[in-house]
Amino acid sequence: MNKYHLKLGVIGWDGRGGRVARDGYDSTGGMLAPVAVVEPSDERYRKGCQRFEFEPRRYRTVQDMLAKEDLDCVLIATPNHFHLENLRDLKGSGLPILLEKPLDSSFEKICEVVRFATTYNGPILVGHSMRYAPILQEAKKMIARGDIGEVCSVRFVQHCHYGNGMFHNWRRTLAGSGGMFIEKATHDFDIMLWLLETWPATIAAFAGQQAFGGDKPADLRCRDCAERATCPESIQNTRWRAGQYKVEELEQCDDLCVFSSAVDIPDNEHTLIQFANGTFGTYVQWFFSPRSYHHRIYEVQGTAGALEVDLGAEFGGKILYCPRYGTLADQQEYKFDYLRRNHYNGDGEMMKHFYQVLRGEAVPATTVKQAFAAELLGYAANRAVIDKRYVSARELLPADLASLYTEKVY
Ligand SMILES: NC(=O)c1ccc[n+]([C@@H]2O[C@H](COP(=O)([O-])OP(=O)(O)OC[C@H]3O[C@@H](n4cnc5c(N)ncnc54)[C@H](O)[C@@H]3O)[C@@H](O)[C@H]2O)c1
Repeated sequence: MNKYHLKLGVIGWDGRGGRVARDGYDSTGGMLAPVAVVEPSDERYRKGCQRFEFEPRRYRTVQDMLAKEDLDCVLIATPNHFHLENLRDLKGSGLPILLEKPLDSSFEKICEVVRFATTYNGPILVGHSMRYAPILQEAKKMIARGDIGEVCSVRFVQHCHYGNGMFHNWRRTLAGSGGMFIEKATHDFDIMLWLLETWPATIAAFAGQQAFGGDKPADLRCRDCAERATCPESIQNTRWRAGQYKVEELEQCDDLCVFSSAVDIPDNEHTLIQFANGTFGTYVQWFFSPRSYHHRIYEVQGTAGALEVDLGAEFGGKILYCPRYGTLADQQEYKFDYLRRNHYNGDGEMMKHFYQVLRGEAVPATTVKQAFAAELLGYAANRAVIDKRYVSARELLPADLASLYTEKVY
């Protein structure tokens, strides 16, 4: 090992953890490699090793991993409601951390993560991987260059076709994920705030449970369900439609029933936002969209034109630029090939950046404070739905974090 070969410890292995570790290895030419993991499940440890083609040493606790390994950095990729706990286990270690979004699930714990980060003795990069995607970097550049003049408003939509998978696991409860305004929209809110460079001010929102949820037992799983062959949302049937059907794998999936009484979060959410700089916008996400429909569309309207980022699918996306006083002939379209890489080709770029942070060549570009701004917006939207009122984001801030709102975080 030379000084450029760095050792990664991963907390939460089979899922995002292994995938990001793999991307880190590939995008740095093997310079950043997972050598140790904390993973409670035997099955998921084994599966992760097979899927990601690494066999890191396995530990039961973060403390044990830290005591026995000489790590250079840590990735936290556990379900949302463990993030604060994982961070606290790293307290004092000073190891650079890549913390998966969102900061945690509840707003109280999200605020605790912000407090933790202000005293932590190492860099923390939040996994807002979409921000590193070349297509979104280009949109940011175009807006900053003034291509559409002064930005006035935004309209972001996420037609999510893989809601089924998320409602089969810990994401289906408020306690587990914080709801989809925190778990999923946080990516879109992060991009929105980064483009607008402001804080959320006033939020209205409506949401409903229209496809998932129901009265099936809280602990029912597809594997034990008599309707699994006919239920259109069973793991068996959704995997079949996606062309991933392997009998031996079905029982290893997260297969909690999507129609269970435990599902306590909406699956269709709409919000109207006024930002602190006077701009405004809308955001919509729903989780039962057809696979063949659009996925994410971001529109940005300005005094001199409009921009539409159609993030498309795994293959590629495009930016459409229309100048205000132009004609059809002045429209310009820029296409981006993602090379089938995850998050619009953002994950590998994020890991290259993390490697630079580890070598002291960069500071985190996606910070805890920025993630907090996006999650403050998500939490305000949750509150607006529950309380049936406009919510002032600023008024939600606890007194010790109130000054954050006047900080320029982008
Ligand atoms: N940046 C992104 O685009 C992106 C994409 C997907 C997921 N995520 C985030 O990554 C995190 C993990 O998501 P996922 O889809 O991989 O979930 P997952 O459930 O598929 O995987 C989580 C893993 O953590 C393990 N685990 C559970 N509790 C643990 C604990 N206390 N300590 C250590 N390991 C534990 C589980 O056994 C499992 O292997 C979530 O916070 C999620 O929001 C981010």
